[in-house]
Amino acid sequence: MQFEVFTLLPEVFSPYLESSILQRARQHGLIDVRVHNIRDYTHDKHHTTDDIPYGGGGGMVMKPEPIFEGVESILGPKAGCPIILLTPQGRVFNQTIAQELSGHEKIALICGRYEGVDERIRKHLVTDEISIGDYVLTGGEIPALILIDAVSRLIPGVLGDPDGAADDSHASGLLEYPHYTRPPEFRGESVPDILLSGDHAKIAKWRREQSLLRTLERRPDLLEKAQLTDEDHKFLLKQKGNR
Ligand code: ADE
Repeated sequence: MQFEVFTLLPEVFSPYLESSILQRARQHGLIDVRVHNIRDYTHDKHHTTDDIPYGGGGGMVMKPEPIFEGVESILGPKAGCPIILLTPQGRVFNQTIAQELSGHEKIALICGRYEGVDERIRKHLVTDEISIGDYVLTGGEIPALILIDAVSRLIPGVLGDPDGAADDSHASGLLEYPHYTRPPEFRGESVPDILLSGDHAKIAKWRREQSLLRTLERRPDLLEKAQLTDEDHKFLLKQKGNR
């Protein structure tokens, strides 16, 4: 999968992409992240990428010409892939969107800076706008890295364990069950006996129940959309009755 990133801060990408699982994925040719400096597509002496807003007001606005030129020269006039602007005004990123994007061969990401981007970029260049949450950052670079990370780990082979992403929190619409590793007792707290029992059916049932319980306690909103079995519903009803 190929990511074409357009940014004014190309240097922030390599430290993360050169560590972590993403480095391995890149070395194995599973993902390819190309970072393009928007400033390289300016033609004036000062390499201007922003300007004051028409109508007045504070802040600066990213100019349309270098972004259009950069994206069109890298993707060609008919891109045929999603061109995503990272902006707090976009649809809020989640696991379903990550799944949807992981099906594409190529994605272009435009990182906004300053007060925003010229509206013509939204209207005539980008095909999608994504926010990583209801708060405002200084730019779209960290959001782009978050998107690259979440999408990449869904690509087959990126995680060492082929089922690695299947049990994730949010993958099934529920939060994940609690994990334990050695030692069996730590500071007076023991690992639940069932996890040491070797009974895989019982462990699976316990994990499902813990997952339901955790979601009920922390994110009850998720239960409305999760795919639940009759047994799940019965378990949840019992829990609600106990409260
Ligand atoms: N740029 C600034 N804040 C952002 C956010 N929350 N999501 C995506 N891009 C952003």
